[in-house]
Amino acid sequence: MTAHKKLFIKTYGCQMNVYDSERMSEAMEKAGYRPTDSAEDADMILLNTCHIREKAAEKVYSELGRFRGLKADKPDLKIGVAGCVAQAEGEEIVRRQPLVDLVVGPQSYHRLPEMVAKVDSGARALDTDFPAEDKFEHLSARPKAARGPTAFLTVQEGCDKFCAFCVVPYTRGAEVSRPADRVLTEARDLVDRGVREITLLGQNVNAYHGAGPDGDWSLARLVRELARVDGLERIRYTTSHPNDMEDDLIAAHGDEPKLMPYLHLPVQSGSDRILKRMNRSHTAESYLRLIERIRAARPDILMSGDFIVGFPEETEADFQATLDLVQAVGYGYAYTFKYSTRPGTPAAERPQVDPAEADDRLQRLQALIHRQQHEVQDAMVGRTVKVLFEKPGRKDGQMVGKSEYLHAVHVDEAGPQTGQIRTVEIVKSGANSLFGKLSGT
Ligand code: SAH
Ligand code: SF4
Ligand code: F3S
Repeated sequence: MTAHKKLFIKTYGCQMNVYDSERMSEAMEKAGYRPTDSAEDADMILLNTCHIREKAAEKVYSELGRFRGLKADKPDLKIGVAGCVAQAEGEEIVRRQPLVDLVVGPQSYHRLPEMVAKVDSGARALDTDFPAEDKFEHLSARPKAARGPTAFLTVQEGCDKFCAFCVVPYTRGAEVSRPADRVLTEARDLVDRGVREITLLGQNVNAYHGAGPDGDWSLARLVRELARVDGLERIRYTTSHPNDMEDDLIAAHGDEPKLMPYLHLPVQSGSDRILKRMNRSHTAESYLRLIERIRAARPDILMSGDFIVGFPEETEADFQATLDLVQAVGYGYAYTFKYSTRPGTPAAERPQVDPAEADDRLQRLQALIHRQQHEVQDAMVGRTVKVLFEKPGRKDGQMVGKSEYLHAVHVDEAGPQTGQIRTVEIVKSGANSLFGKLSGT
């Protein structure tokens, strides 16, 4: 009897990497690898990497360096690099860190089992193609094992927008949408395994235009069809681009109860001059008008965003315009980043902002956003929300779940089961989460 080998995957970056890691882990089970959560225990270690900022990319090399000792103790240990650093740097990874046995780009994961067979025979394997075939179609079917109540489902990959700062169009390739029936089948499958909430993923998810039985479907159409799946209670999607927010999607926020009132809509800057230099193809004003229309359809929607400070040539006045935009929107969440120069992107060639100045702007923006997030969170006290319970909390008898607005909610009473949606009255707002008590049904 042959013992199973063990695979340890460490995931960096965005939710698409989380989804990809799940799919790779499942595909590798077919190749005789069982998942483990300890690197020391593994026969193969796979880093699923992110290239978005310099720090994220460099972390990969420090992590690889740490595996040197493990590999010395266990010469048969195989080490692979997947994800966006693999795509961006390819063979360079092996040159910088010769202990790497395998490099696989995000569009080639379906080739992983044969690559691993090659590695097992003592060779190195490298694949950073953008093959024509759909990797998800060629990855093994998902197993039937039960799972938690929330899941990601990638419906779209790649980006044609080419923001001047961003590596994603190079690491993930052109925009591609998965056919609608495949998405529906996978969603039904997830629901059969216990999933109650699905977050549809794409680098530009609202640019989705997958083939349907009667022509291409928009994201709104896909959401509406998913809403008919019995047992699927909640639908979310991320990440959206302001220019792809079509009327039918806005309308769905108003009349599709399973579509949750939360929208991540990155804008990056509030200065039209900088937005133009970023190649964003929208203005601060058009973004604000768009949010007005979304809020007209769904007044309680909670907005989230991404911001970059210290983009090349950003002045204090440009930065003030970003603060003004944040004031005008009132975000429930927002993610803030200091501009990071990425090789091969247009902005990398431009005059850079003084790093100390960029740090200072980052702190000021974070302070404002932090205040806003807390105002929005505190305003939930006294309101009644629906919570999808996900797991036990840290305290005995406590359960934690998420509200429609994606706030974490703790409840200290016995009753709620994992996967159940219950009505909760919010009684307290804590540092990063809300506390509530069960009310009615
Ligand atoms: N497709 C998504 C996600 C892109 S990456 C979108 O369009 O929003 C997530 C966020 O990382 C971006 O929204 C941006 O705010 C940030 N980001 C991307 N490139 C960056 C860079 N070079 N430096 C700093 N932040 C960056
Ligand atoms: Fe990057 Fe812009 Fe595409 Fe988002 S829309 S992935 S920020 S290039
Ligand atoms: Fe990072 Fe690639 Fe996602 S660069 S943010 S892992 S698409």
